[in-house]
Amino acid sequence: MLPTRLSIQTTYPHLFTNKVMAKVNNDFENYLEQHTSHEDEVLNELARHTYLTTYNPRMISGIVQGKFLELLCKIYQPKRILEIGTFTGYSTICMAKGIGESSIIDTIEVNDELETTILEYLQKAHINHKVKLHIGNALEIIPQLSNDYDLIFIDGDKREYPEYFKLVIDKVKKGGLILADNVLWGGKVLDSNETDKHTIAVKEFNNMVQNHPSIQNVLLPLRDGLMLMYKTE
Ligand SMILES: C[S@@+](CC[C@H](N)C(=O)[O-])C[C@H]1O[C@@H](n2cnc3c(N)ncnc32)[C@H](O)[C@@H]1O
Repeated sequence: MLPTRLSIQTTYPHLFTNKVMAKVNNDFENYLEQHTSHEDEVLNELARHTYLTTYNPRMISGIVQGKFLELLCKIYQPKRILEIGTFTGYSTICMAKGIGESSIIDTIEVNDELETTILEYLQKAHINHKVKLHIGNALEIIPQLSNDYDLIFIDGDKREYPEYFKLVIDKVKKGGLILADNVLWGGKVLDSNETDKHTIAVKEFNNMVQNHPSIQNVLLPLRDGLMLMYKTE
């Protein structure tokens, strides 16, 4: 098995100055992207637009995670998807590309300044008929939604992850999937002295998932950590 970036760093800390680590990370990311199917024109344009027009463009899923979401949807064929945290719509478009014509994604974004970009690119990608955009706070919107989702993608504010989990666990069907992004939080989850609110909430979320009696889960070291959960009952 190939070691992950984190485990290489943990095993050989003396080899890893920040500069070396940045280069290893960069080379690693490039290699992953070069050996993943190419992103299409619209996603590429959306990524460039996101980097030019938003304050924190690195929040975007990007090529590797985007293709993972698309392929997972192609294989699993969920009928109903809920996404928390649309941002500019990159992951929404990736999932929409993977699902059938009659499937629907409910996606929630709290920042109304992003609405124009999201709607523009959903249309450009010709998948707008599969997506219902909810502008508002996921914590208020989720309780109003149905409870028959096949797939839920959690990618909102990390400080709210434990709350999202409590809200969505009854919204996903038996046999359904939940995915949560950024569950390694840049490796900070490994630091027991870390006191920032994001890290504490992500660690709490990971423990909730790990200890939930109806969840089977695997923490994938993809990008910033992707938790894949299967609801057993
Ligand atoms: C990491 S980004 C999402 C990235 C997107 N899923 C993608 O892959 O391109 C997180 C987004 O969640 C939104 N957000 C944060 N808290 C939220 C909340 N309570 N309800 C809805 N959206 C929220 C932020 O405004 C931000 O756009």
